Amino acid sequence: MTGILLNTYQRSKVDDNDDLIFYSQPRLVNHLDDAFRARLTQLYRDQLDEDMAILDLMSSWVSHLPDEITYRRVIGHGMNSIELEKNDRLDAHWVQDLNKNQILPLEDASIDACLMVAAWQYLQYPEKVAGELKRVVKKGGQLIVSFSNRAFWTKAPRIWTEGSDFDHLNYVKDVLIAQGWPEAQFISEPTQKAGFFSFLELNGDPFFSVLVNNN
Ligand SMILES: C[S@@+](CC[C@H](N)C(=O)[O-])C[C@H]1O[C@@H](n2cnc3c(N)ncnc32)[C@H](O)[C@@H]1O
Repeated sequence: MTGILLNTYQRSKVDDNDDLIFYSQPRLVNHLDDAFRARLTQLYRDQLDEDMAILDLMSSWVSHLPDEITYRRVIGHGMNSIELEKNDRLDAHWVQDLNKNQILPLEDASIDACLMVAAWQYLQYPEKVAGELKRVVKKGGQLIVSFSNRAFWTKAPRIWTEGSDFDHLNYVKDVLIAQGWPEAQFISEPTQKAGFFSFLELNGDPFFSVLVNNN
């Protein structure tokens, strides 16, 4: 299936220069706060088994997997080799600009779970990526697309920058369904900062996730 959902304007972004230039400097920072990352790691603890081959697509120097669990294999993809080399959860990695080439260098049905974090928001051709993920994720395997309400806004296509959090959830789901993925489950939750200031009950980065099993 190759349902195309986006028009040229929706794929466009403020900074249309080569993405590899933007990502050429390693960013060894956390893109999401502690509260978000703790919620994400708990989701992985709940959803993933240690015998899985995991793909961390659009990764960096952190994969957010629970420290106490060793998975069968974790493959990472990203835009900066220094970041990926520093990611100690990865058994292998590669660099590829998915806005230029959406074909994943992976075998059919070779992945049990694909994880994408603060990532989908940068895809200009998400339909093709979703189609490739349908190919490489095994039947019964999972896709977990997580994000918050922040982004490198100049690098995100207008379909993302002009939508609400709720629009983002539906947009990811609609692209997946158009590529033959089944109905998705949403998680949409506030998070709360922990630690010394927890008594103030301050909100952390809001947590959104689209979960879907390949059929
Ligand atoms: C905000 S970072 C999130 C990184 C990581 N998933 C995390 O949770 O820290 C956005 C990531 O999206 C990926 N990315 C952005 N533009 C991309 C592109 N054109 N092609 C492939 N990956 C891209 C890069 O790996 C980049 O590090």
